[in-house]
Amino acid sequence: MSRTPTIIRDPQEIRSLCDDERARGTSVCLVPTMGALHEGHLDLVREAGNHGDLVVVSIFVNPTQFGPGEDFDLYPRNLADDLDKLAPAGAALVFAPSVETMYPPNAGTTISVNGITEGLCGAHRPGHFDGVATIVAKLFNIIGPCAAIFGRKDYQQLQVIRKMTHDLNMPVKIVGMATVREPDGLAMSSRNEYLSNEERSRATAIPSGLAAAHVLFDRGEKSVKALLAPVVSSIEGACDSIDYISAVDPASLAPLDDEALAGETMLIALAARIGGTRLIDNTVLGEDRSPLANPGG
Ligand code: PAF
Repeated sequence: MSRTPTIIRDPQEIRSLCDDERARGTSVCLVPTMGALHEGHLDLVREAGNHGDLVVVSIFVNPTQFGPGEDFDLYPRNLADDLDKLAPAGAALVFAPSVETMYPPNAGTTISVNGITEGLCGAHRPGHFDGVATIVAKLFNIIGPCAAIFGRKDYQQLQVIRKMTHDLNMPVKIVGMATVREPDGLAMSSRNEYLSNEERSRATAIPSGLAAAHVLFDRGEKSVKALLAPVVSSIEGACDSIDYISAVDPASLAPLDDEALAGETMLIALAARIGGTRLIDNTVLGEDRSPLANPGG
């Protein structure tokens, strides 16, 4: 029978617990989250059991990764629901600190990852990845995991964290997991809760556009412009505004211009708004497209 995970709010307490476990030879795997857990998060938690004996999930809505006017106050918070979902997924400990303990008034250190943060979401959310890198580094220092699991829906975030751990010699293996999607292809996200029924049905244009690009790529199309075209037209038709729809190298996130040709793989990443909700999604052409909806389906 699954046990409700123990909640710990104090950084020193969870550090001591994890230290004691490690001294007994137990490996610790971390799944950092902001709560409002859905099946995508639970998939990360289940995977964590393959990378560590003790699975720790952090739940912390991190203020420093939200810009002015973004949804920090609105962001869904329901710790009781989250704990119910985590028990069967195999989490033993939940670290749920307060903002004041993570950011005391005298805190003055920020981690900034260069280059890879400049485009895509980084260009539209100034300071966002500094907030992400700083909180993830703090969580790694507090919990000391040997591995940490992240979803590929936040593809740029995953690459930023990989770069940070590499550049700062952090002894943490970073595991990226496929995006978990609703049956109609929409990527699972805590922010999907903001969508009205009408907005939710328009949102399916996002995975449909990405799936159409896969069809072209699989038929041999290499022109970046041609591959982006169905994504742009699908999203322009359904979304209220577009932050970006970009073709980039999947490892470096270096942009490919319209006149370029795709290599063996190419990442299409996008952010668009439906009503007041900002949705992101991505896909790597040249990789299995089965998780995406069929075009029009
Ligand atoms: O992906 C998220 O939920 C957050 O960005 C993370 C990694 C937990 C950092 O706050």
